[in-house]
Amino acid sequence: MEGFRRSFGLPALAAVLMFAAIMLPKVSAVRYIVGANMGWTTNVNYTIWAQGKHFYNGDWLFFVYDRNQMNVLEVNQTNYESCNTDHPLHNWTTGAGRDVVPLNMTKTRYFVSGKGFCYGGMKVAIHTEKTPPPPSSSPIRSSSPTLLSNFRSHLFVPALFAVAAAWDSFLLLL
Ligand SMILES: *[C@@H]1O[C@H](CO)[C@@H](O)[C@H](O)[C@H]1NC(C)=O
Ligand SMILES: *[C@@H]1O[C@H](CO)[C@@H](O)[C@H](O)[C@H]1NC(C)=O
Ligand SMILES: *[C@@H]1O[C@H](CO)[C@@H](O)[C@H](O)[C@H]1NC(C)=O
Ligand SMILES: *[C@@H]1O[C@H](CO)[C@@H](O)[C@H](O)[C@H]1NC(C)=O
Repeated sequence: MEGFRRSFGLPALAAVLMFAAIMLPKVSAVRYIVGANMGWTTNVNYTIWAQGKHFYNGDWLFFVYDRNQMNVLEVNQTNYESCNTDHPLHNWTTGAGRDVVPLNMTKTRYFVSGKGFCYGGMKVAIHTEKTPPPPSSSPIRSSSPTLLSNFRSHLFVPALFAVAAAWDSFLLLL
């Protein structure tokens, strides 16, 4: 049994994982790095960054920034326009300079950096749409400029672990 697992288990597991990767549906949540490779910083026009993108319920925003300088605050539209950060709706700042915001509401939400950076343009309005129906005849949602800025493994990684765990218990039964 141990010999079998050592000599055969790993390659077989790899094969199962590869099979799972091919068979799993392609529609899953997208994690958007706000500002792509520029991140959350000064001198980026985030209106332009968000333009043409479709944010769907279930996707995430990922703010990557200098934790010693900036932060991530969600405000309402009025306070977004005036850069008033005195009464944020939500403080997404965790302190690591890497904050994840789940887009779990189909509406427009407003994110700014406090500490004066909003006035310089560190602000973004994100309109979240309803999740589209699974692509049968329609083209797959195409919002993947680069592999780095999008991370489609939301459903994918847990599924892989589930398959791996199932395979492992199967081997134990042998
Ligand atoms: C936003 O909140 C401020 C109070 O901080 C309030 O005066 C304003 O009416 C609100 N605007 C919207 C669009 O809800
Ligand atoms: C937001 O939360 C962080 C971490 O808890 C905290 O350090 C910071 O002071 C908060 N900022 C605001 C504006 O509330
Ligand atoms: C959205 O996610 C936030 C953070 O995880 C949570 O606090 C909030 O209740 C969620 N809202 C809805 C409508 O699911
Ligand atoms: C970003 O670009 C848009 C569209 O070109 C423009 O209307 C807006 O004023 C710009 N924002 C900033 C902060 O420069």
